[in-house]
Parts: sequence; C-alpha cells; structure tokens
Amino acid sequence: MSDTAKLQIAGKDVEYPVLKGSTGPDVVDIRKLYAQTGAFTYDPGFTSTASCESGLTFIDGDEGVLLHRGYPIGQLAENSSFMEVSYLLLNGELPTQDELTKFENTITRHTMLHEQLATFYRGFRRDAHPMAVMCGVVGALSAFYHDSTDITDPQQRMIASHRLIAKMPTIAAMAYKYSVGQPFLYPKNDLSYTGNFLRMTFGVPAEEYEVNPVVEKALDRIFILHADHEQNASTSTVRLAGSSGANPFACIAAGIACLWGPAHGGANEAALNMLHEIGRPERIPEFIARAKDKNDPFRLMGFGHRVYKNYDPRATVMQKTVREVFASLNVSDPVFEVALQLEEMALKDDYFVEKKLFPNVDFYSGVILSAIGFPTTMFTALFALARTVGWVAQWNEMISDPEQKIGRPRQLYTGPTQRDYVPVSQR
Ligand code: CMC
Repeated sequence: MSDTAKLQIAGKDVEYPVLKGSTGPDVVDIRKLYAQTGAFTYDPGFTSTASCESGLTFIDGDEGVLLHRGYPIGQLAENSSFMEVSYLLLNGELPTQDELTKFENTITRHTMLHEQLATFYRGFRRDAHPMAVMCGVVGALSAFYHDSTDITDPQQRMIASHRLIAKMPTIAAMAYKYSVGQPFLYPKNDLSYTGNFLRMTFGVPAEEYEVNPVVEKALDRIFILHADHEQNASTSTVRLAGSSGANPFACIAAGIACLWGPAHGGANEAALNMLHEIGRPERIPEFIARAKDKNDPFRLMGFGHRVYKNYDPRATVMQKTVREVFASLNVSDPVFEVALQLEEMALKDDYFVEKKLFPNVDFYSGVILSAIGFPTTMFTALFALARTVGWVAQWNEMISDPEQKIGRPRQLYTGPTQRDYVPVSQR
C-alpha cells in the first residue's frame, strides 16, 4: 500500500502522508490541506475523522473487539477489578500487587469531599436529576481544590485525576441521598471502591450496611465495562474542553453534560423505560414495527452503535452478569424476559440484520442496576462515575501530547453572504 494519498482539487495535485497506527485503519494526514488548497474537509459526526493520536483504547467495530492498553475487555471484566483497570488506563501497564495496593490506598484517601460541598447540595431542588447535580458539583470542585488546577504541572494533574476518580462515587451517592431525603454517609476506608459506593448509596447511619459480594462484583464489572471507550462523544467533549487549557474539573463536568444525552449515556435509562413500556412479550412485535417505521421517531433503545457493527463485546458480559445478580438476589423481573425475547426477535428481523443493529452495553445494564435497587435516574450517573477514569486518562494523554492544539473545527457555511444593515424602520 502506498504511503501517500493523492488528491486533485481546484486544479492542483496534492499528496498527503498516510499514517499507520499499531493496528486499525490508516489515517490520511490532511493537516496541510487548507494551507495548500484553501479547502476544508466535511465530516459531520466525525464518522471518518481521527481527532487525535491515542494509545489507550482500541475498538474494531466490525469484529466486536475492545482493548484497553491491548487487553481484551472480556478478560478484564472476568479477571480484573475496576481499580486495576483504572491503574492500567492511567499508567499504561497492569500494576504489580504493590502498585495496586498503593493506588487503591491513594484513591481511598481521596474519597471524602470538602465539607462545604454538603451545603452546596442543599441549593438543589430535591427532585433534581442526579446528572444535573453531578454536572454542577463536579464543575464546582474547581472552586474547592485550587491546588490541583495547574494543568502544566504533572504532579497537580495526577492529584486532580486521583481526586476525580475517588470523589465521583461520593458525589453520585450524595446526589442519590439528597433526592430521597436521607443523610449523607461518609466514605468508609476499609471497603473496596465499589463496596464503599454501595454503602454510601444504600446504607443509613442507623445500622451497619453489609455489602453483598455478588452485587459488589457485578457493579465493579459494570464500572469496568464503562471505563473507557475511545473517542466517543463525551470523551471528545472532555478533550475539546481541555484543549483550551481549562482545568480538569471543568473538563470532566463538560463530559458529564455530554454523556447525559439519550443517544449516549442516557441510553440505559431510556432502554429500561422502553422495556417497562413494552411490559409483556406479546407487545414486542408492535414496538419492533415502530422502530422500523420511517415516519415514527421511535428507536429501540440499547440497540445499535456508531462503531460496533457486529456485536458489542460489553453486551455479552452484561447479559451473563444479569443472571448472576438475579440468582444471588433471588429476584426475577418480567422486564428481563421482555429484554431476552426482544433481542431474539430483533436479531432475526431483516431490518436489524441489514443495518447491523445489535444490543449495546446499555441494553442489559439497566436491568441489573434496577435489580440492585438503583432508580433509573441514577443510571447515567453511574456511567459517569465509571467513565471518569477514561476521561481523565484521555485528558492526561492529550495534555502530555506535544502535537496538542486547541480544538477548533471549521464549517461549510451556508448562511447569507455579506449584506448591508437595514434600519428597523425600513424593514
Ligand atoms: N432502532 C431502530 N433503528 C435504528 C436504531 C435503533 N436503535 N439505531 C439505528 N437505527 C437505524 C437508523 O434509523 C438508520 O436507518 P436509515 O439508514 O434507514 O436512516 C440506521 O439504523 C443508521 O443509524 P444512524 O443513526 O445513522 O447511526 P449512528 O451511528 O449515527 O447512531 C446510535 C448510533 C447509537 C446513536 C443509534 O444506533 C441509536 O440511536 N441507538 C439507540 C440509542 C442507544 O442505545 N445509544 C447507546 C449507544 S452505546 C452507549 C454509549 O456508547 O454511549
């Protein structure tokens, strides 16, 4: 294969280098295109655009592959812990036992929030969506932790990263406690990252909270499955915000805002709501017909993915985890039956087969989270909690990249060309 791409434009022949990654598609380096030809590229939704160089996460959407620093997601979900995956994403290698213990210790000791933040929560309405609270509180961290906002100092960047990973469970649990009118619970250092989060969410000061190990393991696995996902919308948002030199807390708040949308992190909430609306297996054909109807905006939530066009490897792990949680908690949920049958019917339907639409990670995660006891409004907050490690790892990678520039896309302008101002009396 040639190492250059040739383009003929405006009577000029130009050549651009073709760059090769360690795996995955080559990229055409068109950075000089505008200077040489006066033309921009046009790619709304960035479907053909590599926005940066990254060594964190690799996805092969056709083959259903997801690797973090080279390790397949299935192996990490099966054998690892969220803390270990966080270390891997941040540092590039799996930790030794000593490194892991030290890292867990550091994260554990950053889990408390500045006490004044409790007052900040009281400014929200009780019925505020947890994601609204998360956007606000995480953005506000920059007003509380001034000693870790200098992005040119690697030490401060590391402290800010640890703080964000450590405080996110406390912030999310407090958002939940506030909405149900229960007292906030301080973190407890002898519990695991995930066990601590479960206790801060479901425990009360009046009695001891016992962490169910199966639930703890399942939730930890859900965190692993959501830890990072290449240059998705919220990660790109974090990078774009960070490219201007904004502080890490502000950047992560921007990522949370982007994640909130139903086409991204809001999909697990939307998927469970949809399964409830379907209610009974007999109604599935009606909803499949609606999803296929061009005149109906309804989509099967939890189905389809911009990158995965074969299957979402995270969905496979998720489906297995539902069964484990249901068995341990000794619960059954008709919604799970609806989900299984919907998946089966959709995967046999020509529309979904032709468009390569498969269940994504969000199709089953809502069913599990609901069985554990989380209200649907908390689902996206849990996604934000887990994705924080990916966001901070990607943000750190960007800041350390010598090629990094402020993100400033251009446009295809289709508005009016220059015209003269007309006084209001003459319009
Ligand atoms: N139900 C019915 N039809 C669908 C669906 C769906 N869930 N998803 C895509 N399609 C159709 C769509 O109508 C279009 O048809 P046509 O070519 O005839 O116009 C075709 O498939 C391609 O869709 P698209 O919107 O151009 O694809 P995209 O890559 O821009 O969108 C997506 C990807 C995830 C936004 C979309 O599949 C979707 O809206 N899914 C439901 C929401 C969801 O589950 N999102 C979670 C994504 S995974 C978690 C995360 O990473 O945040």
